Amino acid sequence: MKKVFTTLLAALFIMPLMADEGMWIPMLLKKNEADMQQKGMKISAEDIYSINQACLKDAIVLFGGGCTGEFVSDKGLLFTNHHCGYSYIARNSSLEHNYLANGFWAKSLEEEIPCPGLTVTRLVRMEDVTTQVLKGVDDNMSEAERELIINANIKSITAKAIEGTHYSAIIKPFYYGNQYFMYVNEVFTDVRMVGTPPSNIGKFGGDTDNWMWPRHTGDFSVFRVYAGADNKPAEYSADNKPYQPLQHLTISLKGVEEDDFTFVFGYPGTTNRYATSQAVDLAANVTNPVRIDLRTIRLNHYNNAMNQDAAQRLKYSSRVASIANGWKKWQGESLGIKRLNGVEKKQEFEKRFQQWAADKPMYKDVLPNMEKNYATLKSIELNSTYFSEAVRAADFMNRAAALLTLANTTNDSMIQVYKNSLIKQNENYFKDFDKHSIVDRAIFVETFTYMCKAGFGGFVANKDVDATKIEEMLGNIYDKSVLTSEKGIMKLLNSYTAKDAKKILKDPAVALYQLAYENLLPKSSRKQYNEVKKEINRLYRLYVKGMMEMDANNVSFPDANLTLRVAYGHVKGFRPKDGVYYKPYTTLEGIIEKENPDIYDYVVEPRLKELYNTQDYGQYANSKGELPVGFIATNHTTGGNSGSPVLNANGELIGLNFDRCWEGTMSDLLFDPLYCRNITLDIRYCLFIIDKFAGATNLINELTFSK
Ligand code: ARG
Ligand code: GLU
Repeated sequence: MKKVFTTLLAALFIMPLMADEGMWIPMLLKKNEADMQQKGMKISAEDIYSINQACLKDAIVLFGGGCTGEFVSDKGLLFTNHHCGYSYIARNSSLEHNYLANGFWAKSLEEEIPCPGLTVTRLVRMEDVTTQVLKGVDDNMSEAERELIINANIKSITAKAIEGTHYSAIIKPFYYGNQYFMYVNEVFTDVRMVGTPPSNIGKFGGDTDNWMWPRHTGDFSVFRVYAGADNKPAEYSADNKPYQPLQHLTISLKGVEEDDFTFVFGYPGTTNRYATSQAVDLAANVTNPVRIDLRTIRLNHYNNAMNQDAAQRLKYSSRVASIANGWKKWQGESLGIKRLNGVEKKQEFEKRFQQWAADKPMYKDVLPNMEKNYATLKSIELNSTYFSEAVRAADFMNRAAALLTLANTTNDSMIQVYKNSLIKQNENYFKDFDKHSIVDRAIFVETFTYMCKAGFGGFVANKDVDATKIEEMLGNIYDKSVLTSEKGIMKLLNSYTAKDAKKILKDPAVALYQLAYENLLPKSSRKQYNEVKKEINRLYRLYVKGMMEMDANNVSFPDANLTLRVAYGHVKGFRPKDGVYYKPYTTLEGIIEKENPDIYDYVVEPRLKELYNTQDYGQYANSKGELPVGFIATNHTTGGNSGSPVLNANGELIGLNFDRCWEGTMSDLLFDPLYCRNITLDIRYCLFIIDKFAGATNLINELTFSK
């Protein structure tokens, strides 16, 4: 009786906490079907993923290497986020044709712009291949032996799977190698840019609002996939035809209300659901704070420059977006972990695990070993954080690294390759050197000084040394290096042969880079890092397996690994802090409220204001006559889910996922249903912009709407 009671009690406590957490494998969705339907879903698991018929999965793609997109017409029209299309929009933009600033709308197929290098990947089918992958593997062999066998198995399984097809196949480990799935994919390489709103809309609120709610970003862009005459992937050719997908999404303009069921179908990148207390502590309290500080330095200088003129804004906006994105997320993550007492919670669980494992030879050493390995990892991680966030912060040091590579090359043809690429880079680099060097020099000096004061990098041993002295020394290095003299570097490169390597090695910037590298990431620690990582992975494999044996409920879904997943939940507001309640949706009103012509992120397009003034929202208004812009829900998402379709109970498209609420960004490690919300662009705002704002009715006419 007592046992039953405690299990029940535990279930009561666990159940609400588990609610809505999870990124589920589409092929295994049958397991979730009853739960999804009980929560409001009106379609079946088979409608979402099927091997027998066209299904929703056929409309979902991996966009590029790290975003999601979805087909919305039978002519290969694809929606994704503005920030996912950003680098392609930027690449096609110039000050004369500034599509980033002004938007772009192709009025016909001929006007669509090719995007070389951009791929779109469609999942053909997936398969559990655990048995085949682990064939010949046993618990007693070394990791190296195990890896060898697994790799050989993977090679033959994938080769066989795609034999005689134009597909590619990839096998990924789940639960740290307790399970393996194979993904057979079709990769399209002719993808063209069709439409994008101006940044004032697509990036409204910019990095100020990024990760935040209430949100008003029109974060979408439109592309089209082309195929050969046989509807199969083909390299770009003017003769290619729009791809005809097996399935495209139907759009609902009905919107959703609080508590309505929604699900997200896409490609979440990485989570660490089963991380140990040491891993959580390492991220929240060790590496995040350093990364945040060092990025603050960079952001201050770039933002300052971007506010000076349009050319600098164009130059830096893409890199600032990516620097700021992590910078802000890590702040939310660390705070969230602290709020949840994340480290302590993990420790409590570990105590229970250890008690359970004490009499099990296979598991009893897992956690003690984990602790040892994390202690080693911690110092290596910290060094490598300084390396990537300080040493490689300024272009100056990245160019020094490239120069060092040249100096270390003895093969004549490789020397030519490196040399030519450096010459080309330099031509570009010196075009706006006057302005850029002010920014880059400051970033270099300040990030290095910060590292040095923290006692890292190795080139100044004494932490207490006067910061101005360090700055002066670094400034001198910058000014004296051949890298900052156009004449000097071009002369060196133009006549460079292997015997000039000494000249490069003597350069103060190259010498400094080399010193920092060898101090932070010496060969011995790089080797150790690989070993520790492997060992930790092995321990997690056992840990997760043990957790499952201890209680199947301990292990619900596998961590995200950039494979297709379904997350589901409800539209829901939340209380970010005492006295504040966030409603689950925003409207155009909020854009007008935020308007500030003096702040770049909050400039409102005149045309949008016009539409606001006449309240000309047409079919895109909600029942109250407002124009909805965004909404939040409890779907468990992460980076990579950007651009993922958010679907209603009928499987109809109601929005594009593009972010998470800041207060819940610890969800990669710890999910809290009270705080974790994904942020969705309401499809009605997206279509309103395409239709009413841009007049791109040609695109609207291609779409399929639910009755
Ligand atoms: N936070 C979102 C994501 O992780 C959007 C990032 C792009 N937007 C930006 N303002 N930097 O991808
Ligand atoms: N913007 C993110 C992306 O690129 C999604 C936000 C998140 O991390 O959940 O996928």
